[in-house]
Amino acid sequence: MFRAVIEGTGSCLPEYKLTNDKLEKLVETSDEWITSRTGIGCRRIAGPGEGTSKLSAEAARRAMDMAGVAAEDISMIIVGTITSEMTMPSCACMVQKEIGAVNAYAFDISAACSGFIYGLELADKMIKAEPEKKILVIGAENLSARVNWRDRNTCVLFGDGAGAAVIGADESGRGLLASKLFSDGRLGDLLYMDSAPSMNPYINMDPAEAGDFDPARLGCPLDDEGSYIKMAGREVFKNAVLAMENSVDQVLDEAGVSGRDIDWIIPHQANIRILHNLGERLGVPQEKIFINIHKYGNTSAATVPIAFDEANRGGLLKSGDLILTCAFGGGFTWGAEIIRW
Ligand SMILES: CC(C)(COP(=O)(O)OP(=O)(O)OC[C@H]1O[C@@H](n2cnc3c(N)ncnc32)[C@H](O)[C@@H]1OP(=O)(O)O)[C@@H](O)C(=O)NCCC(=O)NCCS
Repeated sequence: MFRAVIEGTGSCLPEYKLTNDKLEKLVETSDEWITSRTGIGCRRIAGPGEGTSKLSAEAARRAMDMAGVAAEDISMIIVGTITSEMTMPSCACMVQKEIGAVNAYAFDISAACSGFIYGLELADKMIKAEPEKKILVIGAENLSARVNWRDRNTCVLFGDGAGAAVIGADESGRGLLASKLFSDGRLGDLLYMDSAPSMNPYINMDPAEAGDFDPARLGCPLDDEGSYIKMAGREVFKNAVLAMENSVDQVLDEAGVSGRDIDWIIPHQANIRILHNLGERLGVPQEKIFINIHKYGNTSAATVPIAFDEANRGGLLKSGDLILTCAFGGGFTWGAEIIRW
């Protein structure tokens, strides 16, 4: 049986580092509060030339380089994002143009933080039907444009970035072994964002004009009525823990493996406490959970592919390793997947 296998990974992060220390000057918070509650120490903020599509395209180029796949050989581009620069064309079409993937068809998935794992399952279905295809699955966000920089409940959590994977077919037992995806629209009110363009205005500025990051220039609202991320944090936390645990149990069952067989957990990076809970429950030691939330915060759909790329380039993933990935996000959307590397 053919399975989707990751042949190359890439990621691209904006240059600007917004540390907790800098955030202390913007809202009433502290490095101690943010670090102890979330594990986040820094996040990247998109600057000139670092829009969602540009970061995606660079991540895609790096993944294609690693896979040894040319842009003309890509037949499908899927971008998981809730912060495309424009509603139309999609971020995926912008990426197609940027990298010259002239033979691909391209579209976005709006599944919030689960966008990349949703994309992976779609790619797997496509690969089973047409194993000769090469598919780009990308997760990318410009959440700095959609954060209310006066709301300390949310602005400390999110960041910008992109990650990509080139997907091909494998018949040797490697690849996506099992996937369990879910959503529940009834819980949408707990984490949402009204529609509006997701273009951080810095993206179109000259570097000289842009200067240092200043949230006031992002059109920060004077009240809470802007089209910004709204979140009932505690409720989201409880639901995230339960949903992730449930989907992980189901995907382990489907793959016929147990938590102790897992070599790496490469999870969505929303909160370090959620990840430690998950590891403890599965009996997976903390050093086997790949964590980079301290560097980038929650980049929604981008966290999983960025984490895959860093683990891969860091030489942590060995051929044959059993990897569990899982995500949870607004919608709600969530799920878990098992990959034989
Ligand atoms: C947001 C989150 C970190 C808050 O942690 P928490 O332990 O639940 O904190 P609480 O909601 O109990 O808030 C505790 C207090 O800290 C305050 N607080 C909130 N943000 C703060 C900040 N950045 N700095 C300092 N204090 C803050 C709150 O106002 C509250 O004060 P109060 O008790 O006087 O009302 C946590 O709920 C979380 O991670 N939720 C999931 C978020 C998430 O992952 N969303 C994306 C899903 S993909």
